[in-house]
Amino acid sequence: MYQAYQTQQLQALTLKFSAMLQEEEKAAAHIEDLRNVLRFHEYRYYVMNAPLISDYEFDQLYKLLERIEKKQPALVTPDSPTQRVGSSLNEGFTTVQHLVPMLSLENSYNADDLLDWDRKARELTGLETIEYCIEPKFDGASISLVYENDLLVRAVTRGDGVEGEEITNNIKQVRSIPLSAPFSEFGIKQIEIRGEVIMSKRSFEKYNDWLTAQGQGALANPRNAASGSLRMKDPKDVAKRNLEAFLYHVSYYITDTNSHTHTQYLSSHSGSLEMLWQCGFRSPQQEKQVVKGIGEVIKHVHDFEEMRDTLPYEIDGMVVKVNSFALQDRMGMTTHHPRWAIAFKFKARQATTVLRAIEFQVGRTGAITPVAKLDPVYIGGVTVSSISVHNEDYIREKDLKIGDTVLIERAGDVIPQIVQSLPDLRKGHEQPIVFPKHCPVCNSELFREEGEAVWRCINIECEAQVVERIIHFVSKDAMDIKSFGEANVRRFYEAGLLKDIPGIYSLDFNAIAQMEGFGKKSIDNLRTAIEASKQQPLHRLIYALGIRYVGETTAKTLANSVDQLLVLADMSEEQLQQLEDVGVKVAKSIRQFFHNKENLHMLRQLEQLGLQFKNEKKEMAEGGNLSGQSFLFTGTLSKLKRSEAEAIVEKHGGVIVSGVSSKLNYLVVGEDAGSKLEKAKKINTIKIITEDAFLQLTGM
Ligand code: IVH
Repeated sequence: MYQAYQTQQLQALTLKFSAMLQEEEKAAAHIEDLRNVLRFHEYRYYVMNAPLISDYEFDQLYKLLERIEKKQPALVTPDSPTQRVGSSLNEGFTTVQHLVPMLSLENSYNADDLLDWDRKARELTGLETIEYCIEPKFDGASISLVYENDLLVRAVTRGDGVEGEEITNNIKQVRSIPLSAPFSEFGIKQIEIRGEVIMSKRSFEKYNDWLTAQGQGALANPRNAASGSLRMKDPKDVAKRNLEAFLYHVSYYITDTNSHTHTQYLSSHSGSLEMLWQCGFRSPQQEKQVVKGIGEVIKHVHDFEEMRDTLPYEIDGMVVKVNSFALQDRMGMTTHHPRWAIAFKFKARQATTVLRAIEFQVGRTGAITPVAKLDPVYIGGVTVSSISVHNEDYIREKDLKIGDTVLIERAGDVIPQIVQSLPDLRKGHEQPIVFPKHCPVCNSELFREEGEAVWRCINIECEAQVVERIIHFVSKDAMDIKSFGEANVRRFYEAGLLKDIPGIYSLDFNAIAQMEGFGKKSIDNLRTAIEASKQQPLHRLIYALGIRYVGETTAKTLANSVDQLLVLADMSEEQLQQLEDVGVKVAKSIRQFFHNKENLHMLRQLEQLGLQFKNEKKEMAEGGNLSGQSFLFTGTLSKLKRSEAEAIVEKHGGVIVSGVSSKLNYLVVGEDAGSKLEKAKKINTIKIITEDAFLQLTGM
């Protein structure tokens, strides 16, 4: 491999082959040298960002190698630079298991969090000060690479952490990832390494310009651009994205018993980064910092945060790792993350832009939401051009005017917000925002209930509401009609093929087949998904109806309390209020829904169409040992995921409620429980129990 040569030697070889461009046979006699020259220049360009030859010179040498290999295919090796560009398309991806599960990291947000974490680390290790290695937290898509006998044999997505999808062909398009690496020099036979595929800010902008020029929609941020590329069908499309990769973690390796070279490097995290760097990877070798004690860590992460914008790629924080592998082993891990590492997340990011207009959107329940249309601005990793400004009061509070320069903020995955307008920058032509008196879609008069901030269109037949209700009905958490989705609802509605919810079950597929983009396969999928949704359990159907204030939890309560959906139609507000989690407001809304003639008509249609109106689980759960008991979970559970714990409750006939009230029977507390616990302590009928006690209760 090229690492065996000095830079001067490689440069001399480059000149030698450049002089041999017309003498293929002569060059063929030294084909491995030619490959090394190309590998070296890829490394200089993609890893070191310090090329020694021009793109043109590189291309000439590359074509020379291609010609030789074409004439003598026996000379092709799997790690030849020509082997990145495979010609075949990916036909689905196979699932493979990671050699070691890919864990995620615990998050911290401030100095106190880091101090706490360091204190625990010192307790666990019995040391007074710990040596830490700090590196950027790259904002991309995580990958896992396996090299065997120096060859890249597979690349895998994170998946669920235990198994992911094999994406080797696509990863070969990332030119900073070597197809072979001299791990054997370190006495290593097999190794699994982890890292992040990213797209630089510059490549992202260029790629989006290209997309726009092609008439395609731009991508939201470099992270999506990177993660969306991993499972692309055509590796050539991946190559177009100009992706990069940082490798920052050795998760597993097998050594050659005769060699001990690895021990020098693989006794600390910083040593492993050095080894990866020497093997030709872009590891955060230059970006990392090794320090003693948490004080230095805190200083360094803050200093780094100051200069994040000067980096050519996005980072969303820093990762702090205990440097010694022996200590890491001693500290171990929880079910979710290693105890020896923590992510430090950077603060919200702000930017200014101009508010150009306000658009008034009508939601499923008729609520009018003003949405600010902004000059597109790149902030915290996304391009923002539109932000909800909630309601009239909010607009007044923030003193927003059309034409204003506004300060906006975005923190991590959080939806961007307008922080404030900047009235000092007004020029005098700014216009006040006038809230409409009539629905922008159906023109009926808007109403605002006392004590409420939102204006509503109360015309139940308002087109905007009808469409939003259908969108909600088919959505993932509701009836989960796969391959339907918002776009199709809108298209079918506009084409007059879908007027209401029951209409979903009598779609004219012949007409849809005439629409652009619908082949036999997609129509079959749609038809099957619609049919399958008839079997969705009652609680999903209730949630899907979109009754105001009835979320998933209340829908489950309602479903569990009846044998048949239409029983709810006969319940009084008082009876409804007897149910867990149902207060005055919710009961009133449920009553209103079932009192409405159109709604009842729709329900009868749905029943006739064969949707699941019966509560199948009720009989089973009534015998369950948690029958009639209500539960709420708070804090971080250590053995179960929140969703698993809730499923256990339901399986045993109990119900989940969403808040602490006298109707709650059990509050199950995990680590770092907060205000819910405090509130529950004040109500002495609530039993406060641990996760273990909960498991005992269920007999698990
Ligand atoms: S270390 C066992 N180091 O952040 C430790 N992760 O939630 C493995 N990430 O899934 C992770 N930069 O995708 C590590 N320098 C870095 C990282 C990093 C980004 C990602 C990674 C991980 C997530 C943590």
